[in-house]
Amino acid sequence: MSKKLYLFANWKMYLDVAESVKLAGEFEGLDYPAHSVVAAFPSALAFVEVKKNLSNKSVVALGAQNTYWLDKGGYTGEVSVLMYRDAGARYALVGHAERRHLFHETNHEVRQKIETVLAQSMTPVLCVGETLAEKKDDLTAEVLEAQIRAAYMDLAWDKNNEPIVAYEPVWAIGTGESCEPDDTEQVAGLISGWVEELLGCKPAILYGGSVRPENISLYVGLPDISGVLVGGASAKIESWTGLVEKVIAPL
Ligand code: PGA
Repeated sequence: MSKKLYLFANWKMYLDVAESVKLAGEFEGLDYPAHSVVAAFPSALAFVEVKKNLSNKSVVALGAQNTYWLDKGGYTGEVSVLMYRDAGARYALVGHAERRHLFHETNHEVRQKIETVLAQSMTPVLCVGETLAEKKDDLTAEVLEAQIRAAYMDLAWDKNNEPIVAYEPVWAIGTGESCEPDDTEQVAGLISGWVEELLGCKPAILYGGSVRPENISLYVGLPDISGVLVGGASAKIESWTGLVEKVIAPL
């Protein structure tokens, strides 16, 4: 069986409810390559409406951009994993760089979220990445290893489920600067080794950071990369269509 191709769309805080519903409908109308796993991550506010407007057998799965690990209670502004599960989420991004760096989310919080997402039978998408300063100081491997160990060390993992890790260099997110394919492949090899050691199975590794129709083929063609996590270019149907067309063409 050929490996799955993950096409994940992180809509961040780009779209209002009506725009999210419209874009999800447009996503649903596209043809995707065989073995694709397509998921959109709408805002918390738009989530239910998007879900309601997708068909029951939609090719587009949904995920949460961020979750809180406790089920219910006095946690102003938060949305729990349980609530997302009930609303139809299959995936949850955990530890996205914007959460880590703009909202000071720690490796410890990331771990609590991973555990809760798994307990609710959803799939966590663990996001990891180094900052520009860390890259310049040659700390990429150290930072990534710490992020991955904190998330997965001693975690009970059902080996029938493929762990998903998104490698998103912080300096490449939303900047138009993307990671060199050779560097991406090298990092993916490291990630794969750590995850296999910790969970006993190989992960699917997604690349994220300024993925565009012009560069997507460079990443999905890499042996250790199984897809992409796309921000800006996923929030407009023109660029999303461009991405999908590029992966439909033979790699
Ligand atoms: P970008 O975002 O594609 O806009 O760089 C990627 C991400 O943050 O997941």
